Amino acid sequence: MPLESPAPLRSYNPFVVVVQDLLDERSASVPFPPGETRPSLRRTQRFANEPLPLLLESYERYGPVFTLRLFHANGVFALGPAANHYMTVSHASNFAYRTSYFRDLMGFAGDGLLTTDGDFHRASRKIMLPAFHHERILSSLDTMLEETSSALEDFVPGTTIDLYAWTRRLALRIAMRALFGLDPDGPAARSIDAAALFEQTLSFYARAYSLRMLRGPLSPWDRQQKATRALNRLIYSEISRRRATGERGEDVLSLLIDATDEDGQTALTDLQIRDEVMTLLFAGHDTTTSTIAFMFHELARHPHVVERLLAEQDTQLAGALPTPTQLMGDGLPYLEQTLEETLRLYPPAWIGPRRSVDPFELHGHTVPGGVFVNYCSWASHRLPDVFPEPDAFRPERFAPEAKAALERGAYIPFGGGSRTCIGMRFGQLEIRTIATLILSRFALAPPPDFRLTIRQMPTISPREGLPVVVSPRATAPSTPLSKTSVESATFG
Ligand code: HEM
Repeated sequence: MPLESPAPLRSYNPFVVVVQDLLDERSASVPFPPGETRPSLRRTQRFANEPLPLLLESYERYGPVFTLRLFHANGVFALGPAANHYMTVSHASNFAYRTSYFRDLMGFAGDGLLTTDGDFHRASRKIMLPAFHHERILSSLDTMLEETSSALEDFVPGTTIDLYAWTRRLALRIAMRALFGLDPDGPAARSIDAAALFEQTLSFYARAYSLRMLRGPLSPWDRQQKATRALNRLIYSEISRRRATGERGEDVLSLLIDATDEDGQTALTDLQIRDEVMTLLFAGHDTTTSTIAFMFHELARHPHVVERLLAEQDTQLAGALPTPTQLMGDGLPYLEQTLEETLRLYPPAWIGPRRSVDPFELHGHTVPGGVFVNYCSWASHRLPDVFPEPDAFRPERFAPEAKAALERGAYIPFGGGSRTCIGMRFGQLEIRTIATLILSRFALAPPPDFRLTIRQMPTISPREGLPVVVSPRATAPSTPLSKTSVESATFG
């Protein structure tokens, strides 16, 4: 028997949803924690455009648990190590994702891992976990190296490229091949320009909240639904082709098709498989992409960090390609610290949106049940009492002893507990691979007049992309890493 899908939401009509939120709020059995509970368009816009300073100011003023009225409803924010641990680990079952701020993800991702809770979430996660085990992830490394080397042909010294857009294209190709066994250059994907359609579906979440509420022809919602339907056709035809031919690979799609319950019956319907595929594409795409962009933004401002990274490459790699062990394990420790520090300053999945089930107490405040409650890695990672001089980029914060001394719940770029990012290892491997290959051959610097601004929905990413001027690496490794060496290298 296929898994029984979770109950649909009470309504998907955004205007009905707003009214229901207001009614839920009125029936709250206990007062909200202190904060700013009067409606304010200015505060709402500030949150939509620049949430970080607003959250940090509120933390200063009200402490780690506070309320902000945003859009039409009160939202509770819980910041800092203890709150993060409480919401993601010790009391995670009291917080639902499905009815949170991010419920409109369901319009695209359906009932995938992100947007479900409880038994259905647990059972789906159990089915999917084997696809993210160490060996399976490792088998994606060849694809990552090959795609990155080929994409690096765009890096012509003296030219300016948008590193963010470049990585988006690359990451989507890697995900299509490594996760789903789909050929991005094959006739099926090309006939519908899958990459462009995918970008179109995601762009919905970057629109203003008021525009996202509109329905009807030509609304952002309508465009998203059209693009989603075209992508659905691609996914469904691939599922039925594989079911018919028996063709399978090492990819998640094959695993989902073959998943069975205790009685050996097919565990997932085509719709459920589609939902998981879309969820993985969504959750994995902009996260790795933004991390590469933010990492190279910081590296351009910290040449001494680049020097150490290059010295590490020269010692550890000596001109050869990184081995799987180096990329999966601790073979490039300073690169790892640089990645960790990048994810501290810019955790792409910056907010953990939830709705409380029952009232609860945290840091001496009672919080009602049935209301929006959010943890926030971005603000938690910038608390000066947890990370001194929090805005400074210092990979040394993650040197082994310093990292071991961090309080539980202090550092949570991949969330925590039963909802910890399932694609964490895949994402880390992809970022380390792309960063290593770029650093081994090129130096990247932003144009002098470029100022980074950050867009926050649905993940944080550079609003205007990340233009960089490409130069050859200053001190070439003894044997440059070339496409030829990638092709001739063996991994396993
Ligand atoms: C730098 C890379 C990444 C970062 C920083 C990141 C971060 C996160 C975070 C913080 C969560 C938890 C969200 C919450 O608690 O509300 C999460 C969940 C998730 N991530 Fe990632 N992610 C990354 C890459 C990926 C990749 C590559 C994939 C897929 C291949 C992926 C798939 C997922 C899924 C499916 C979930 C939901 C898990 C669940 O609820 O059981 N992520 N991610």
